[in-house]
This record gives sequence, C-alpha cells and structure tokens, in this order.
Amino acid sequence: MSSVANITRKRPAAAPPAVFDVNRVRQDFPILKQQVYGKPLVYLDNAATAQKPQAVLDAILRYYTEDCSNIHRGVHLLSERATAAYEEARAVIKRFLNAGDASEVVFVRGATEGINLVAHSYGRVHLKAGDEVLITAMEHHSNIVPWQMVCEEKGAKLRVAPINDRGELILEEYEKLLGPKTRIVSVVHVSNALGSINPVRRMIEMAHGWNAVVLVDGAQAAPHARVDVRALDADFYVFSGHKVFGPTGIGVLYGKSRLLDAMPPYQGGGDMISFVTFEKTHYNKLPYKFEAGTPHVAGGIGLGAALEYVNRVGLDNIAAYEHGLLEYATAAVSAIPGLRIIGTAREKAAVISFVLQDIHPHDIGTIIDREGIAIRTGHHCTQPVMQRFGIPATARASFAFYNTREEVDALVRGIRKVQEVFA
Ligand SMILES: Cc1ncc(COP(=O)(O)O)c(C=O)c1O
Repeated sequence: MSSVANITRKRPAAAPPAVFDVNRVRQDFPILKQQVYGKPLVYLDNAATAQKPQAVLDAILRYYTEDCSNIHRGVHLLSERATAAYEEARAVIKRFLNAGDASEVVFVRGATEGINLVAHSYGRVHLKAGDEVLITAMEHHSNIVPWQMVCEEKGAKLRVAPINDRGELILEEYEKLLGPKTRIVSVVHVSNALGSINPVRRMIEMAHGWNAVVLVDGAQAAPHARVDVRALDADFYVFSGHKVFGPTGIGVLYGKSRLLDAMPPYQGGGDMISFVTFEKTHYNKLPYKFEAGTPHVAGGIGLGAALEYVNRVGLDNIAAYEHGLLEYATAAVSAIPGLRIIGTAREKAAVISFVLQDIHPHDIGTIIDREGIAIRTGHHCTQPVMQRFGIPATARASFAFYNTREEVDALVRGIRKVQEVFA
C-alpha cells in the first residue's frame, strides 16, 4: 500500500489567528449568517449540538466528491486515499486527547455508544453480584442507563454520589462511596444540565486507590477545554463528534490499551476480525476489534477536520473567551427579576440553565424562538438532576466560542419579552 504521505491530499493552509477574534471565527460558520423569522439567528443550543465550520463541511464534501469508497481492505486508489484520511483523523484525535497511541482511539457513534461499549464489554466481564458501580447525581441518562442495565444483569449495585445546592459534586461523599466493592466509576467531566465541572483528576486518583477503573464522559468537556487523558490518568474517555463542531453519528472512545486489549468485542462483523472459520474467529488488533462493519468514514474524516479547526482557534483561547462570556451572561441573566439559575458551581462551563417565575420552560423556549433565539428546554436527559432541584424542566442557554455579548443581550431581551407576555 502506498505510504500515507503519498496519498494524503494537501489541505488548504489556514493560519492560526494571532488573537482570538469572535467576529472572524463567526465567518467560518455559514449557518450563523442566516436569519430566522426575519431576525439574525442567535444559536444558544450548543450543548445539544454545535455548529460546523466550513473546514468540516469541505472535508466531508471532499470525501464524497473525490475519495468516496470503502476503507481498509481496498487496493484501489480511492480506497487508499479514504483509508489514509480516516486513519489520519484517528491520529488527530490521538493528539487532541494526548493518548499514548492511535490504537487506543476507537471510533464509535458518539458518547452514548462509547459508554455502552464499556458497560457491555468491560462491565459484563468484570462485574459480579455484590460489586458496585459508582456514578454521580449529575449524569446524563447515557451514563446512567447502560450501568443500570449491566448492574441488573450481574446483580451489581449502582451507587450515586450526591451534589449540593450549587450543583457541585460533594467530593467527601464521593470518597465515602468508594470502597473495596467499587469496580467501575463512571463520571461526567462537565454537566450538560448544570455546567458544573467535576474535579475528575482528583476523582480518578481516589478511585484508583481502590483499584476501580474510571470512565469519564467528556461529551461537554471536549468542545470547551484541553483534555489530556494521560494527565488525568483516565481509563476510558468518551466524547461525541457533533458537540465538538464535527458531524453527527461519530464519536470517540479512548481506552488504555491494556484494558481494551483484554476486553471482548462489543459487536461482531466485518473489519473486527483477523480470521474467520465456522469453528472459531480470531479478532483483529486494536482498535479495529471494536469497529465492526463499514465505519462512518465521512464522519471520522469530518471529526478530524473539526478537531484540527479547534486546534487552530486554540483551546486556551476558547476556554478564556467562553469564561468571559459566561461571566457576562451570568450577570446579565441574574439581573432579571424572578429568574433563578439552576447550577451555580464555582467551576463552571458556559451553560446557563434557568427557571423563570412559574412560566413553563417550553413556553420560554417557544416565545424566544420567535425572536430568532435557539435555546433548549426540558430535562436535558438528566431527569435525576431535575428531581434533585424539585423542578420538571429548565430553559438552557449553552454557549460556544462563536457566541457574542450582543447575543447574550438578545437573550436577555427575549426573556423580558416572555415576562411581558405572561404579565
Ligand atoms: C454529558 C453528556 N453525556 C452524554 C451525552 C450523549 O451524547 P450523544 O447523544 O452524542 O451520544 C450528552 C449529550 O447531550 C451529554 O451532554
């Protein structure tokens, strides 16, 4: 097979911006230029899915218009080019996470599938009756239900570390719940409903003290801050492509090779085998052992392009800019009488969940949609968080680095309009 260097296409060079300029980065996102209901789109639903820069759209289009073919076993040029682009994307992800090796990067459909893979492969092998799996009270349903399923099957117990009224994990309670029965800890890095940032490095250290393995759900962390799986010493780390400015239907499971090697495959099929007879199948090496069937080639390539784009903008620039935006938005929104922010953690990502008087969040969302502002309303797939705060739902504005202070002002005007309607 030709070397990767020979068959990889040259990408258009894009110089990194010297200083972060929000108006400049906004130009990279074609969707943001549109109007809805005759008003400029204000997209504040980034925790649900983030918008895609032109570089991602171009990478996907390039694959479908120039390289479209199945990958890995092809001997023709298109297949070789597509394979090289896909594997290059894996290398980009490896660097993005600072993984030790590209074979520790498994392509999955998203964070949800990554967690299910670990629960069903690692969990099924290692859990037995009486063992415990520890999660937190702020988990997304994707990090609750797979563990409930495997615990039920194995007779293991699901334990839940509580949060305080600010929506912060109570670390002492978490520590108390760890013990000799804890086999697996699965925790969210950044809460999608509250914005709370968990001290995952410390949590992993504590769990390792009991020889438990730790999965970190990084779905809301990867788009906003630098993730270093080796510095964290995470055993598994998952995130979704579509929340990190890449395509839907693709995501990443990082796992330490020592653990992945010892785990049975999650699904059987093409690509995950090295040799098949009717008597026995020998499985492929990592990471392919976990990638049965034709993969989402365009998705992988698009995700690689998204992370390269994020790297060019600079994760430190992104984190600093979003921090300023969160402070501005928190002050502006808090000044609205009758509005209560749900989730006031001291370490917080750019997410503002709120309730307003006794107005149902769906009414808030619907009215401000007419102002061109997209927010999310509901339980955000975190019903236990809603139960913890005694509310059915919240309205949630979640920010990305392309959002502006003017858009925060528009949100505030939109919320005031809701109050006028219900006055
Ligand atoms: C914290 C968290 N975990 C997991 C998920 C699931 O991600 P996906 O639906 O992309 O698999 C989400 C999605 O909102 C999330 O916010």
